Amino acid sequence: MRPRVLSGMRPTGALHLGHYHGALKNWVRLQDEYDCFYFVADLHALTTHYEDPEVIGSSVYDMVIDWLAAGLDPDRSTIFIQSRLPEHSELFTLLAMGTPLGWLERVPTYKDQIEKLKDRDLATYGFLGYPLLQAADILIYKAAFVPVGEDQASHVELTREVARRFNHLYGRGERLAGQVSAALARLSKDDQRYFDRQRKAFGQTGAAEALAKGEAVIARAASGIAGWSAGDSELLTGHLRGSGKVILPEPQALHTEVPKLPGLDGAKMSKSYGNAILMRDEPDEVTRKIRRMVTDPARVHRNDPGNPEKCPVWDFHKVYSDEATREWVWQGCTTAGIGCLECKQPVIDAIVAEQKPWRERAAALLAEPKKVHWIVEAGTERARTVAKQTMKDVREAMGLNY
Ligand code: TRP
Ligand code: SF4
Repeated sequence: MRPRVLSGMRPTGALHLGHYHGALKNWVRLQDEYDCFYFVADLHALTTHYEDPEVIGSSVYDMVIDWLAAGLDPDRSTIFIQSRLPEHSELFTLLAMGTPLGWLERVPTYKDQIEKLKDRDLATYGFLGYPLLQAADILIYKAAFVPVGEDQASHVELTREVARRFNHLYGRGERLAGQVSAALARLSKDDQRYFDRQRKAFGQTGAAEALAKGEAVIARAASGIAGWSAGDSELLTGHLRGSGKVILPEPQALHTEVPKLPGLDGAKMSKSYGNAILMRDEPDEVTRKIRRMVTDPARVHRNDPGNPEKCPVWDFHKVYSDEATREWVWQGCTTAGIGCLECKQPVIDAIVAEQKPWRERAAALLAEPKKVHWIVEAGTERARTVAKQTMKDVREAMGLNY
């Protein structure tokens, strides 16, 4: 079984090159190594766009088409829509009961976004809960890794704290004690005594050696006892560490170094700033946009030399051009040997070439909207199987199984 990766994206408009290079490209790559779950975070979009949900509705399937066009493969990745799985909302509600208000108020993106998105009223209960909803998304699939940008690191950190607290609060109890004894009883008498000695030693001294010895017993049981399950190992690991049962495992953030692709004006690329190149912009649109892109302001005239470090076009060359081209740019810019339009042409060519397979795949999918719906349907049902099982465990752990 490959470790699970989970990530989501908010459907708030057509995807642009910033989405592709900042996230999607990485999502595509992760498919080779992980059991990938990717979803449309429409509930998260509602936390900021609750006044205009039409934007969300019209973006959902368009976004999935952009994903598929970029190379997400529905045979390897589970693609689904968050709101189609009420389990997300249910786990969010249950986690909310024991999550201290301060944990949410202190998440750096909270005040930050309220400041930035001044035109929206974000003094809502839903927006405060944004990172907790994200925690529910992640924990419900027991994801091992969450590929996110630097700005989302604090949300994964909160998710870890929420999981730890949940396991601490509900991963104990009588039912658990019974399960632990049953698992222990399957070990040989000698192993039982030995395991218990290591558990006590670890509890009293925290010695790593005792922990390792106890874990070795579990590993031996896993490979030697017929019918021993991963659940049995998990139970005894919790018993050994004194941490109770891990019902919701802690995920890890997966940060990848991505070269920043700025917008046409040098600021962060964003559709709402009107500085974006969309994944599905036509070649002449790309040409027009890049040609009017800002450059180093020092290059007022053709024979004024420039500094690529002060020019957003250079950031594009860092993503799109080979060594030789970058050499040509650097030389030509600093000596006024080339003009800016000349400099921009290889970038235009590279973007148009990159988009070619996207455009072709998107055109095929647009001609067959049923197929896209079917992909999402199949992914949603696959996700539902996992989400339902987790919710069963969660309800049981919280004593909601009456
Ligand atoms: N908050 C994420 C973003 O804005 C989207 C998201 C929602 C997400 N739920 C998630 C990302 C779970 C990773 C895992 O980019
Ligand atoms: Fe920017 Fe290229 Fe013009 Fe230099 S020559 S300012 S790098 S566009």
